[in-house]
Amino acid sequence: MTQILILGGYGMTGSLLARLLLEHTDAVVTIAGRSLTKAETLKTELAQTFSPGRIRALAVDVEDIGSVRAALDGIDLVVLATSYASHCAPVAIAALECNVDYLDLLYGPAKLKTLVRLTGEIEKRGLCFISEAGFHPGLPLALARYLGAQFDRMEEVHFGCAIRMKIDPHMQMPESISEVVAAFSQRPLVYGDGRWMMPWLAWLWPYRRIAFAPPFRAFHCIPLFLQELALIPVECPDVKETAFYMAGFNWFVDWILSPVIILSVLVAQKAAIAPMGKLLFWGMKRFARPPYGTQLVADAQGMKENSQWSASVTLQHDDAYFLTAAPVVALLKQYLDGGIRRPGLWMMGQIADPARLIRQMSEMGIRVETQKNLRS
Ligand SMILES: NC(=O)c1ccc[n+]([C@@H]2O[C@H](COP(=O)([O-])OP(=O)(O)OC[C@H]3O[C@@H](n4cnc5c(N)ncnc54)[C@H](OP(=O)(O)O)[C@@H]3O)[C@@H](O)[C@H]2O)c1
Repeated sequence: MTQILILGGYGMTGSLLARLLLEHTDAVVTIAGRSLTKAETLKTELAQTFSPGRIRALAVDVEDIGSVRAALDGIDLVVLATSYASHCAPVAIAALECNVDYLDLLYGPAKLKTLVRLTGEIEKRGLCFISEAGFHPGLPLALARYLGAQFDRMEEVHFGCAIRMKIDPHMQMPESISEVVAAFSQRPLVYGDGRWMMPWLAWLWPYRRIAFAPPFRAFHCIPLFLQELALIPVECPDVKETAFYMAGFNWFVDWILSPVIILSVLVAQKAAIAPMGKLLFWGMKRFARPPYGTQLVADAQGMKENSQWSASVTLQHDDAYFLTAAPVVALLKQYLDGGIRRPGLWMMGQIADPARLIRQMSEMGIRVETQKNLRS
């Protein structure tokens, strides 16, 4: 049986990954973080539903490379779901040294540069490294490839993401909120007329109105650049327009805080991340209002049999963390049956079989709606 180590295994995303892996695969899952007590507690909870022989708990501190190397002994795949993109380098290097496959859900352009530098060694050792896995990053490129297959020529594809979370007033701020704020430091690039650009006046009026499915409505969304978007014109060469937009937390975060965060990370960069993270978490908690839920809408236009068509796919779940973990587990099902595993460095959206991914996510409880319409 394949042995999977989850670093960050009892975190918000990691704990769902552990549960879904036990439910939907035969893998043996090791839950790890800095606290053995927290790992053991989750192990005990999961052992009430799943075979205790398939669950292990370990204390591992990513910043202590010796403990990472020791944890990789006997492991086939390490899944990195800790709080910081800076954890990528030590874990990826240890995985290489120990001949272990690697997957991360981290956000951060610097992380990809680290991985790209390791590509030669990854290929030489025949290892499979998958980055940018999850919901966003993760799904946009996979959905673009899925929609691209519906057209003879897909000319544009846009993504809208809405997240409305009900947050327990007593919940501690997750460390990973800093990664959310750091994401705003990316220039809000959109692809138009076949080139990457920043929309005119993007810092002052960055919004684009995007319609979501009920119980949501149309929201004004801000652009967010994801590294995987850069591969869309490569994977779907007829695409001349693409961008990813997000909104929906609540009126305060969307209209007041988001522009402030964009400006502060632009001006003060790293110094702004911690205070803006606190402000964002406070704003998400303080102003949260129903309806709650998470949606990702991918909307494409193009030509099929000499006619203009539009096609879309909408993914929904009440829990944003579930929408993060389910695509990773769907991908790992494809990896575990040998269907997609191949040596090299890949983004999730590049290596996944997108139609199967959507089917498997739907089987796990993600609501999927697809539409295709003749436009003229
Ligand atoms: N791709 C996507 O769609 C997507 C969506 C959401 C989140 N993410 C990413 O997923 C990651 C996890 O997010 P989350 O919200 O689940 O975070 P979280 O709830 O804060 O969990 C992070 C976990 O990492 C552990 N950790 C932190 N530092 C560690 C260290 N030095 N060594 C070992 N373990 C450590 C924490 O436990 P201890 O502190 O006890 O060690 C905790 O279990 C983040 O990087 C986030 O950016 C990606």
